[in-house]
Amino acid sequence: MVNTRIVNTRSVKITDHLQYIGVNDRDTHLFESMWPLPDGISYNSYLLDGGTKTCLLDCVNIDSVNEFKGKLDEVLQGRPLDYIIVNHMEPDHTSSIRTIVDLYPSVEIVTNKRAVPFLKNYYKIENNIILVDEGDTFQVGERSLTFYTTPMVHWPESMVCFEEETGILFSQDIFGGFGTLDGGIFDDQIKWEFYEDETVRYFTNIVGKYANQAKRALKKLGGLDIKMICPDHGVVWREDPKKVIQLYSDLAEQKTKDGVLIIYGSMYGNTEMMAEAIGRALSAQGVKDIRIRDISKTHLSYLIAETWNYKGIILGCPTYNVKLFPPMQTLINVLKGQKMKNHIFGSFSNYSWGGGAEEEFAKFAQESGWEILETTPKSNGLPDQEDLEACGQLAQEMVQALSK
Ligand code: FEO
Repeated sequence: MVNTRIVNTRSVKITDHLQYIGVNDRDTHLFESMWPLPDGISYNSYLLDGGTKTCLLDCVNIDSVNEFKGKLDEVLQGRPLDYIIVNHMEPDHTSSIRTIVDLYPSVEIVTNKRAVPFLKNYYKIENNIILVDEGDTFQVGERSLTFYTTPMVHWPESMVCFEEETGILFSQDIFGGFGTLDGGIFDDQIKWEFYEDETVRYFTNIVGKYANQAKRALKKLGGLDIKMICPDHGVVWREDPKKVIQLYSDLAEQKTKDGVLIIYGSMYGNTEMMAEAIGRALSAQGVKDIRIRDISKTHLSYLIAETWNYKGIILGCPTYNVKLFPPMQTLINVLKGQKMKNHIFGSFSNYSWGGGAEEEFAKFAQESGWEILETTPKSNGLPDQEDLEACGQLAQEMVQALSK
């Protein structure tokens, strides 16, 4: 028989003293006004009941503040809210904090000194702040939370806290992913294949640039006996937290897989023919994992995620105003900023009356620190037999480099 009392609640019970009161966002098109959210995102928030004291762990985006207030009312049942722990200041987790502080004027905000100017500058909040720092333990009634700073994962003030008695890690952005929580919120209630892709895209888009800091943070957290992970986005991990720890570790280590990603730009189809020829030649030599992406059609968000994953990266485009085709220039700029590692790089280009793209690819190749393939096919308009053979040669060099 269905327990209607449980399904009619708006919050979700995690343990006897912990409730999930996060929200789903299916309205926002672009996270940070940049990253597509075709399947939405969740902003997770938790209410910890320490017996004599109550504590909110991070808040939600302002657009969902009414829903959030309703859930908070439901779990507090008239009790006061004593603390708000701010593990991360980015407004997707704090833009509702002003409303909550106004509702509970005596609430104290527990955070670290790096968050203080953000609280002031974003929300004009300067009072009722309790400061914690690395290794400090804070009591919420009978519950004790220990803090670990994780700078630049995702902002300078970012930190996590660990409930010693239960082994629950409140990990803010770390271990998060895109995608709303559609019904189930726990790892044993969802189809991981969907969330895995959206977790990879979240990591590579949002914190990828800070992979080294993420590595340091994961090393620091590696010493904890983590039984459950409650992140600020995505799935709550109660059955197999090691799965998402492993995924994040692999991403932070920039482990790549032995396939080839070809990204091309093509205005009239000639450069696309070169991409197809390279793909065919790779396949003929036994490479099975090949993706060919049209840079004009595939959003940068997905290209970053795929570039992070594939060991072999081949980029190609026409010359445009003596430089790279502009969408390719944008991708190159982003890849430079991401500081990706462990890749083999090949390029090809096309031109009509004067070159330029090939020099820009060569400059990027030198700066990237990636292994560079020697052959760089360059076609004048429609690729001829010689150009297509050069494409085959480039594919062969890629296969040899992958097999080392
Ligand atoms: Fe989910 Fe960096 O905020």
